[in-house]
Amino acid sequence: MTSRYHDVYNGWKENKEAFWDEAAKGIDWFSPYTKTFDASQGTYGRWFVSGECNTCYNCIDRHVEHGRPGQPAIIYDSAVTGEKRTYTYLEVQEQVGAMAALLREKGVEKGTMVLIYMPMIPQAMFAMLACARLGAIHSVVFGGFAAQELAVRIEDCKPKAIISASCGIEPGRVVEYKPLLDKAIELSSHKPDFCFIQQREQLIAPLNEGRDYDLGALMEGAVAEKMTTECVPVAATDPLYVLYTSGTTGQPKGVVRDNGGHMVALKWSMENLYGIDPGEVFWAASDVGWVVGHSYIVYAPLLHGAATVLYEGKPVGTPDAGAFWRVISEHSVVSLFTAPTAFRAIKKEDPEGTELAKYSIAGLRSLFLAGERADPDTILWAENLLGVPVIDHWWQTETGWCIAGNPLGLGKLPIKLGSSTVPMPGYDMRVLDDEGNELGAGELGNIVVKLPMPPGALPTLWNADDRFKDAYLSEFPGYYKTADAGLMDDEGYLFIMSRTDDIINVAGHRLSTGGMEEVLSEHPDVAECAVIGISDNLKGQLPCGFVVLKSGVEKPTDVIEKELIALVREKVGPVAAFKLAITVERLPKTRSGKILRATMRKIADGEEFKMPATIDDPAILDEIAEAISDRGLASVS
Ligand code: COA
Ligand code: AMP
Repeated sequence: MTSRYHDVYNGWKENKEAFWDEAAKGIDWFSPYTKTFDASQGTYGRWFVSGECNTCYNCIDRHVEHGRPGQPAIIYDSAVTGEKRTYTYLEVQEQVGAMAALLREKGVEKGTMVLIYMPMIPQAMFAMLACARLGAIHSVVFGGFAAQELAVRIEDCKPKAIISASCGIEPGRVVEYKPLLDKAIELSSHKPDFCFIQQREQLIAPLNEGRDYDLGALMEGAVAEKMTTECVPVAATDPLYVLYTSGTTGQPKGVVRDNGGHMVALKWSMENLYGIDPGEVFWAASDVGWVVGHSYIVYAPLLHGAATVLYEGKPVGTPDAGAFWRVISEHSVVSLFTAPTAFRAIKKEDPEGTELAKYSIAGLRSLFLAGERADPDTILWAENLLGVPVIDHWWQTETGWCIAGNPLGLGKLPIKLGSSTVPMPGYDMRVLDDEGNELGAGELGNIVVKLPMPPGALPTLWNADDRFKDAYLSEFPGYYKTADAGLMDDEGYLFIMSRTDDIINVAGHRLSTGGMEEVLSEHPDVAECAVIGISDNLKGQLPCGFVVLKSGVEKPTDVIEKELIALVREKVGPVAAFKLAITVERLPKTRSGKILRATMRKIADGEEFKMPATIDDPAILDEIAEAISDRGLASVS
């Protein structure tokens, strides 16, 4: 089939508003918008102005009303507990309606902030959808973050309510959520009015009298009494959620997502990018705490009337490297979306792919990868094993959906290894040099999006318009800075190479090295430090901290290094995967005192580097190289 991509993309370019008007027909509006795009509103304009809608209605109720009440909507499969349960659209409506009614009884209404800190259980999805139903704003925090990270988010978004669970389950250990939650609330100056806690049978958490409520018990009663609420109409431009993502400092950025544009973009993507039909089973093997989970575990498949798999487990070790093939075959998954690191983990454990022989995955049509650069080896290995197209696509928490991909629904374009293919309609991509001049095909530079951003992308940061403008819009006026570097070839294919800031990508998780440096600096013996991301075969990158100790410190360095590793785990969380702390005498700097992190990274990765002209003392680079080789870090890369 010849791809319709170029016709569709050019059609969008010729009449952008008409393109989105057509896409907006995929959504049920309570009242129509009066302006497709209003450039005078917000920081760079707003989409579908004055339209009224409800995201929960579009995800659930309309499918119940229009012929899908008995169709699977959420397929929960826990590889860590063995529990499996399929909820039909009607059942999801009952659960979500009941949870919304319980929240409303406690004062949650349109515009109220609700924080969700949950493992991968159906109640996490019900909670998100219940907020959407009420027009409340949710902010989901990934379960692998520790108390302090949670506290920073509570402080920033000031939730009236927190919905959590007694525990998460990681291979070999039960992660107690309640002590983390209690500690975070203690650390934050803002206190929620109440918490709903889902008790799991693996661990019953003690509840704080007057603040905490047993969500499971409340839900049992509410469902039995058929408690529900109507879907509250909200403006298309009202926020659906705030999702925090790493910035270059320890203060995360609250990415705001609206209701209308988000629904339009996601619905369009299900058919045209992922090539999914309503009624089919789509599986995003991510976590609801990340943007991929928000968009492609929860909202997009349901908006489209598809079934979504909610998988609690890992690609390996739960129990083996055949876990993904089991889920695909048991639940008739037609398309899988995950991070390349998951496939690297499977490849490492089962390089010959022998586990696959135990299952039939004949229904699988495609594998989509995102979250980090998909290395050609992994793509080829997966393609060879699965016999389906393996599609690398590029996006960010900020955009909420794909910037560049290979639109299977419009007809597959030829794949170029190392490229995430072409921009989606809505994205006018340019590559600029540091002075803002446009670069030609094949030239490496800053990848930017010509404003406006498409529907679905962030309109701003939560309560921080100025930070939004500073971080994304000011460096290249008229453009959104992706903070990714790369190039576009003469056929318009984008190659994303690296971040231009201090963000690193560990197992598809976006982390701030600046945030980790702030934690290391808190240690009483540390004078200064630098955290860099070094290459890792499995996780893509791993954080590595270099510390200079204060003079006169007598404690052995190996003890301090262990304390530093424990400190990052305690303050940021296990997800930081911070396991390398190296004490050095000095850090390499420019004459103006800027630490040469990029050069340190190149040394650690064994890459060639040019001696920076502004370096203060070149001998320090040799010291760093020696410290790195003493740790045998060559084996890491
Ligand atoms: N709650 C508590 N702890 C968590 C957690 C959660 N929700 N998620 C991860 N952690 C912990 C892990 O147990 C691990 O702890 P450890 O240091 O005690 O071993 C640590 O955080 C690091 O986690 P992770 O980087 O995920 O490593 P892993 O070894 O557990 O798994 C992969 C590695 C590759 C299998 C896993 O990262 C993966 O499946 N990734 C692909 C899918 C994905 O998450 N994509 C994200 C965006 S699409
Ligand atoms: P996150 O906001 O967590 O989704 O992380 C976004 C960042 O991950 C991007 O800015 C990129 O640096 C990186 N990223 C995501 N997908 C890809 C991809 N397909 N190729 C290269 N980098 C990617």
